[in-house]
Amino acid sequence: MNPQMSLIETLQGLESEALSAIRASLDADGLETIRISYLGRKDGRISLILRKLGEIDDNERRPVGAEANRVKVAIRDALEARLVHFESDGSAESSGDDLTLPGRRRWIGGSHPVTQVVDEIWQIFRSMGFVRARGPEADTEWYNFVALNTPLDHPAADEQDTLYLKDSVLLRSHTSPVQVRTMEKHEPPIRILAPGMVYRRDTYDATHTPAFAQIEGLVVDEGVSFVDFKATLAEFARRFWGPGTKVRFRPSYFPFTEPSAEVDVKRMITLKDGTRVESDWIEIMGAGMVDPNVLENVGYDAERYTGFAFGMGPARIALLKYGVPDLRLFFQNDVRFLSQFTHGPDQ
Ligand code: PHE
Repeated sequence: MNPQMSLIETLQGLESEALSAIRASLDADGLETIRISYLGRKDGRISLILRKLGEIDDNERRPVGAEANRVKVAIRDALEARLVHFESDGSAESSGDDLTLPGRRRWIGGSHPVTQVVDEIWQIFRSMGFVRARGPEADTEWYNFVALNTPLDHPAADEQDTLYLKDSVLLRSHTSPVQVRTMEKHEPPIRILAPGMVYRRDTYDATHTPAFAQIEGLVVDEGVSFVDFKATLAEFARRFWGPGTKVRFRPSYFPFTEPSAEVDVKRMITLKDGTRVESDWIEIMGAGMVDPNVLENVGYDAERYTGFAFGMGPARIALLKYGVPDLRLFFQNDVRFLSQFTHGPDQ
């Protein structure tokens, strides 16, 4: 066998040996060891062959030299490619991790489902010209009851099972005191929406919690009629539940409104097979025309001004909207429950 052929074969053997060593290497240090053993200036196996070129015949030198240079470049390129791969953290590949798995994204949380319902309701009333109002959660008997035409010996004052802090100071049992506080400070026209927490001595069960959110609404101006009252709340219901929603005003009683009503809605629901059916009537709020006594208690001229008010429980509305079976789920802070309402890592 001529020495030229055997040198070329030797070079090719070294090449495939080096390339498989590069493929099997685990890190940059491993690559450096390979580089030294094949391309190292002193003892590198390819370098040694290149150095021996001078000892062979002129006409044999050319093809062997060309092959030696090709192999040298091939090994150098492979070393470089593998190094880039390690630097872009491809080392995980050899650690057995599944690189096709989706990345872990940061948990960003989101607003509570009841807060989302409050926001949605607020957006609707805001577009009808309402502004936000707020009042203290600890308030007095005057604001919570008396100014609202509810004498303290009236059953309504007791009915609501109020949590007293001391003497005549209590945790508000509804958001209606915000009506009084707003009217005391401002002259009509008034158009407010006042979401906030209220407190009652209720037993904690599937439909009651001792602390819950309410949203109060109040409109007072010259010439505000029962038609404005019905139309505004019907418009709200249709915007919140959809155009097919029916609205019913059932006569009721609140000391601070006259006449008073409970507002029910009948929603259109889409079944799994796509058919549209009507839901049962569900109660969504208490409401009514503001009692003239309340207007007089804040110093308004009840001959000149009229208005309407309403109060609703967003947790109850969220319950109906999302089909949640138990109110307590809203208070347990279970991420498995809450993440269904947020744009968490999987969305
Ligand atoms: N405050 C009443 C309640 O808590 C609701 C209501 C508000 C009714 C405004 C009429 C007008 O039940």
